[in-house]
Amino acid sequence: MGRIQWCAAVLLTLAAPIRSAAATNDPVVAVAGLGVEYRGVTRDSSVEEFNSVKFAKDTSGPRRFAPPQPYLPPRGAVVDARAAAPACPQIPDAIPPYFGATPHQSEDCLYLRITRPVGTKPEDRLPVVVHLLGGGVVKGHTQEALFDPLHLVAESVSFGKPVIHVALNYRVTIFGFARLPILKGQKSLNAGMRDQRAGLQWVKDHIASFGGDPDRLTSFGLSSGGTFSSLHLMAYGGEQGVPFTRAWCMSGPPGTALNMTSDATEHHTRAVANMLGCGGRSARDEAAMLKCLREVPMERLAHAAITHSIQNHPPAGLFTFIPSVDDDFIPDRQSALYKAGRFVKGVPMVFGWTHDDGATNAGPPTSFQTEADIKTPIRKNYAHALADADYASLFALYPASDFASEVANYEARRHAPTDPVISVHYFRAARILRDLLFTCSSIDFGSEMTKQSRALDPWFPGVRLYDLNQSMVTRRFRGAGMPWLGIVHGSDIDYLYNNMFPRSTMPGEDLDLAGRFLASFVNFAYTGDPNGQGSSSWPESFPVGSRDEGANVQLIGGPWGTGSYRLPTGTKAEEEGSIATEKMEAMQHPLVDSTKYEEMVEEWQQRGQQELERDRLGERCSFINSLADKLGH
Ligand SMILES: *[C@@H]1O[C@H](CO)[C@@H](O)[C@H](O)[C@H]1NC(C)=O
Ligand SMILES: *[C@@H]1O[C@H](CO)[C@@H](O)[C@H](O)[C@H]1NC(C)=O
Repeated sequence: MGRIQWCAAVLLTLAAPIRSAAATNDPVVAVAGLGVEYRGVTRDSSVEEFNSVKFAKDTSGPRRFAPPQPYLPPRGAVVDARAAAPACPQIPDAIPPYFGATPHQSEDCLYLRITRPVGTKPEDRLPVVVHLLGGGVVKGHTQEALFDPLHLVAESVSFGKPVIHVALNYRVTIFGFARLPILKGQKSLNAGMRDQRAGLQWVKDHIASFGGDPDRLTSFGLSSGGTFSSLHLMAYGGEQGVPFTRAWCMSGPPGTALNMTSDATEHHTRAVANMLGCGGRSARDEAAMLKCLREVPMERLAHAAITHSIQNHPPAGLFTFIPSVDDDFIPDRQSALYKAGRFVKGVPMVFGWTHDDGATNAGPPTSFQTEADIKTPIRKNYAHALADADYASLFALYPASDFASEVANYEARRHAPTDPVISVHYFRAARILRDLLFTCSSIDFGSEMTKQSRALDPWFPGVRLYDLNQSMVTRRFRGAGMPWLGIVHGSDIDYLYNNMFPRSTMPGEDLDLAGRFLASFVNFAYTGDPNGQGSSSWPESFPVGSRDEGANVQLIGGPWGTGSYRLPTGTKAEEEGSIATEKMEAMQHPLVDSTKYEEMVEEWQQRGQQELERDRLGERCSFINSLADKLGH
């Protein structure tokens, strides 16, 4: 063989694997800081995904319940990040309509899923949105079908403002939130939140290699995912900064059903230890208990923790193992921290709630016959320290007469003969729970964030509030025989992800709302302000000098259309807010002349203002926020 021919043969042999890699078109990202390459996969020719980017070590064995330890692949490695990562141990069954079954679980679960527009280059420096999944601290992982980021990222591209989406696994239930004095001594409480922080830190440190901008990093989530985003701002009393620059919290304020000073989580940890034969030793012998709990196989521990949680808080065991004050990561309870200025300031935020956010928390509507029945779910599951006098005040603030139209709206939706007759007290309970769990704490922390940030920086872009009054999920629940659930918890997130129904079957008004909601979200990821291209005009909620005059709330969707409204604060019921001067954008173009149209818009606008005032959020929330001690906030 001649020399030239031999060389060509060698080249062909060497070239073969490279050619085949190129043929699959797999994206490869070199992360300079780690000396590692990650291989991803192209999907739908629109996004590139890195499904299993491991940021912390396996949490089994001695690392169970311990803070996460950063994972560094060997230098020079080419990591195949194409396959889906396992979920952390959690309830394996589906919780419709939000969560699917989770058969693939492991304690080696601390992975990120990074999704970016196809062809993103490191120099693009795109804003990054990091999803901390919700799920009541019992459920949620990066491959959840409803939160598949494909449409979100593709829509951001067609909208002209591409973003990178990252989803983050963290430990839930007892694995993430066990509590024992010995663990506290080892600074090992709140491990699940420490996972989140480690994942966010990984994103901040390395996302630039994927084409992301670490200075425009939004932490967002629904429910517990929003609450965690809020609480991270208070981690270490705000003294160690936070690895993100903005936050978008959907029905997830800092004070939601979390008594962080409670010893309940310790009680639950011991109960699970007893179930597994790890308790029963002398109370002092905690080291043995911990060792035993670390040796139990994952499936047994998960099963015991879930069984116990469901008994504690039926039907799904939500919020049983929860974050708690540990004199380290979380130095005090939420409202004490933020009132004292112990949080990271200058972080633009959006807080939202849905119009019937508390409806699922109230439980079965037929269990409400009298006013006294309102106490049952609240006392049992959310606020057992409220006294009868507190209930008397709540009942006076949420009189039955204010809920006539809720009953009428439900009657109008009630079609099937099996749809029950529902008492007004159910609707009162649902609204009280909405405000206790979601609304009032959003307003309270939002106003503190604004006031205290602006004292340091007059150019702080502000905090914004929204109230969503439109839902695609309602249809699902009606189909499942629950027509009383109106604009339920979780209605907002599908307007970002668009996975619950095929887009081709979405009604025009939902497509329209999804477009605007995503536009606001993406604008916020770019600038910290949801205003801009494609979004309805949305003023900040607590502009300079307005603290005592009320707050602006964006009403999103529903019969009165999207627009900005003024929420009166203070305690005077008769105090009227001025109708927003913002011109409301109509949802549909009317078949009437423009003068008539202007009149209609004005009428809708007045109606929206009246309806929002009917919620009396100013006086109701000033009372609820005054209960912070008793709520454990
Ligand atoms: C919170 O927990 C503490 C300590 O267990 C308890 O004293 C307090 O009553 C609890 N508050 C609520 C609202 O449950
Ligand atoms: C929310 O929607 C309901 C039902 O469509 C309507 O009756 C109510 O006035 C709306 N409230 C607000 C504040 O938009």
